[in-house]
Amino acid sequence: MSHELFDKIAELRAELEATNPQNEAELEQFRIRFLGTKNAFKDLTPRIKELPNEEKKNFGIKTNEALQAAQAKFDQLQSQFARQESQETNKFDLTANAYGLPLGSRHPISLVMNEMISIFERIGFTVAEEREIEDDWHNFTALGTPADHPARDMQDTFYLLNDVEALLRTHTSSVQIRVMGKQKPPIRIIAPGRVYRNETISARSHCQFHQIEGLFVAEGVSFADLRQTIYFFAKEMFGATQIRMRPSYFPFTEPSAEVDVYWGLNSDTDYRITKGTGWLEILGCGMIDPQVLENCGIDSQKYTGFAFGMGVERIAMLKYQIDDIRLLFENDVRLLQQFQSAGY
Ligand code: PHE
Repeated sequence: MSHELFDKIAELRAELEATNPQNEAELEQFRIRFLGTKNAFKDLTPRIKELPNEEKKNFGIKTNEALQAAQAKFDQLQSQFARQESQETNKFDLTANAYGLPLGSRHPISLVMNEMISIFERIGFTVAEEREIEDDWHNFTALGTPADHPARDMQDTFYLLNDVEALLRTHTSSVQIRVMGKQKPPIRIIAPGRVYRNETISARSHCQFHQIEGLFVAEGVSFADLRQTIYFFAKEMFGATQIRMRPSYFPFTEPSAEVDVYWGLNSDTDYRITKGTGWLEILGCGMIDPQVLENCGIDSQKYTGFAFGMGVERIAMLKYQIDDIRLLFENDVRLLQQFQSAGY
């Protein structure tokens, strides 16, 4: 055991134990030195014949032990480095952009409706909602339009199952009848909602659309109150500085009026949509006919009221310069996406 070859093996073994590769390149150096085809132990092998016979076996054992130690160290470090690398590549990058979630957005009709509601809420109106399937009384008769009254021709009606009693409401004026039947004045409501008329679908009309109706019933409500309320709305909604009222007819109001806002004539579009006048019709209104109040059990000697009603699609089309009402019902995402950044 005193032969120099054993010292050499002990030296190599000590070197092997002391070598601690820190990365893959250093590990490769380690492999070449101790495990490669021309490793350090192989240099010693030919010298085995210098040993006496009884030492040869011992030399083999020592060499194998060293080689096994080298292999074990190599295997352990190799898997450790592989694990570190995969942890690094799997690390979360907290600065990376997240996948964009597709966000829905409000429909332009909802946007405009909400804006209109908020304007009226600021002056004390509250929202009232009622059914879309109505009966004849609330949609027509109580509103001064009994059967065979010529004003029924103003609105073509969808009847349900050939039943003249059940119909799709043709206007949200039915809500004023329901609310006045339940509440005592003062009443100050707006009724937004969907209405239906049996009309041919075209760029300018549809068989379903939305209305907002307003109703104010109290002691001493005057036409001046009506005018001021509409003026406030036109100013807030369109920045209008002038409105005008033209005499009109509705079966449930007397007197009745149609209201135009002054839109201006600053562009070709203005000329086109106002037909060269600068004025745009936006709504119908009037003082509630005393008979309508009586139909709802309200004393028409004591109370007066006004009502107004307008189409939401028309307002939305004016506001967003949409010239075909059908676009508002097709739900084409290319149109809807243009409203994604809008608020409300
Ligand atoms: N209900 C009427 C329509 O649909 C609008 C209106 C409402 C007119 C209230 C006057 C008062 O045409």
